[in-house]
Amino acid sequence: MPSYADSNGDGYGDFKGITSKLDYLQDLGVKGIWLTPFLKSPKVDNGYDVADYYEIDPTYGNKQDFDTFLKEAHKRGIKVIMDLVLNHTSKDSQWFQEAKKSKDNPYRDYYIWKDKPNNWESFFGGTAWELDVTNNQYYYHKFDVRMADLNWSNPKVVDEVQKILQFWLDAGVDGFRLDVINFLTTDGILADNPMKDGNQQHLYDIDQSGVKEAMKMIKATVNAYPNRFIVGEIGSDKIQVLKQYQSEELLDVVFNFNFGSIPAFSAERIFNELQSMEKVMSNYPTLFFGSHDMPRMMDRLADGNLEKASALAALIFTAKGVPFVYYGEEIGMHNIIAHSFEEIADIQGKTHYQLALQKRKTPEEALLEGNKNNRDKSRSPMQWSANEFAGFSIEKSWIKVSPDFKDNNVEVLRKDKNSIFYKYKELIALRNKEKVLQYGKYDRLEFKDNQILYTRSFEGERITVIVNFGKPTKIELPKGAKILLGETHLRTNKSIIYKH
Ligand code: GLC
Repeated sequence: MPSYADSNGDGYGDFKGITSKLDYLQDLGVKGIWLTPFLKSPKVDNGYDVADYYEIDPTYGNKQDFDTFLKEAHKRGIKVIMDLVLNHTSKDSQWFQEAKKSKDNPYRDYYIWKDKPNNWESFFGGTAWELDVTNNQYYYHKFDVRMADLNWSNPKVVDEVQKILQFWLDAGVDGFRLDVINFLTTDGILADNPMKDGNQQHLYDIDQSGVKEAMKMIKATVNAYPNRFIVGEIGSDKIQVLKQYQSEELLDVVFNFNFGSIPAFSAERIFNELQSMEKVMSNYPTLFFGSHDMPRMMDRLADGNLEKASALAALIFTAKGVPFVYYGEEIGMHNIIAHSFEEIADIQGKTHYQLALQKRKTPEEALLEGNKNNRDKSRSPMQWSANEFAGFSIEKSWIKVSPDFKDNNVEVLRKDKNSIFYKYKELIALRNKEKVLQYGKYDRLEFKDNQILYTRSFEGERITVIVNFGKPTKIELPKGAKILLGETHLRTNKSIIYKH
């Protein structure tokens, strides 16, 4: 949200800005947009710290700007899902402000309080409990200390969430991306988590039995409206855990970070994940290699190689699943590197920097540590042109612009038919056209010689895809096959897609 297009020169993206880019997105073939949080927030965590579930943050515009954006998106056949953060609120939320006043405040039980902390850890580092001196009790925060966890064992919280969902569905959104949704503290069990080999086992703070009840309520509420969609962010590296949340009465699809956020490239690992999703999950998996929480795939997986990045794109648009593309991947955007503590804007990066200092690391070591965890490296402004601030804003930018923007931007790449931008465009057009690529089941899914190879079929049509991360080879096509993209002399980091 903050990095796409700034219409008023305040340095932050906004609804008017995105609205002005809808033609671009339509031309690219995009069918849906997931917006990161845009609700009122002090934005200590990129808006994932919501202060008011019914108000649009003025930085991004007003309700009318939102309505116009939604209407214009729909006009172009583009659906819009919003990111909903239901695990915690900002401490600035009226609910928390009330809750903290006294132990008998009607909002007290909207949050989780304890006289003495247990051993639960925050996912951003350190303890998850903070003393509130007003009443001498600790409140629970699974993430930043300025974000307090909602108490999902309180039916009033469940009712509030239902109203919030209905409000935004009535406003016309096409669905939700549910933030850290398996982290909800639903069962009121606040026992210490066991430790194993020095690591905390999240036995009582995540994946509690009540999480499914919460999801059921959410899904039933959403299902009352036609053609809506839910994707859940499930923090788990276990495919069996992911699988249990994906069902008709829970979530439509879930993100599998074992696939999407692999730390380094490995064709075999990517294949193994595809295979395990196929074996274990009953519905479509999600296919993605980037988000606002991880280093850009261009650097993390493609080593700056445009062909490799395009081959990875070929995979996510043709394998079985729902593809998600992080803005700027279509122009091969890179990470930005912070050169000082001040340049790290992200709380997670800052927390890790400070923890490193506490561990008596030198400022240089602390900067490395902070940079490693600095999620802002993938949040630099979208590169629209060679103009100042990459055409993102006319005045300034809340975060630094990637230094390569002069050569690497939409305006330049659109003029080059061999650019990564055109590869994305071709792939998206193909996926939008071919039902097999949207709905087809796998007839085979194989890995050999560093090639990922699959055939998918639907209603009597068959498409085979070979993504080659190995040596150059010559592909023998079956008789009568028709090449849709690519060529039979399959070079390294190239793909071929044919119908037969
Ligand atoms: C999710 C978001 C991340 C945020 C966290 C806490 O993981 O993607 O950006 O920091 O939730 O809300």
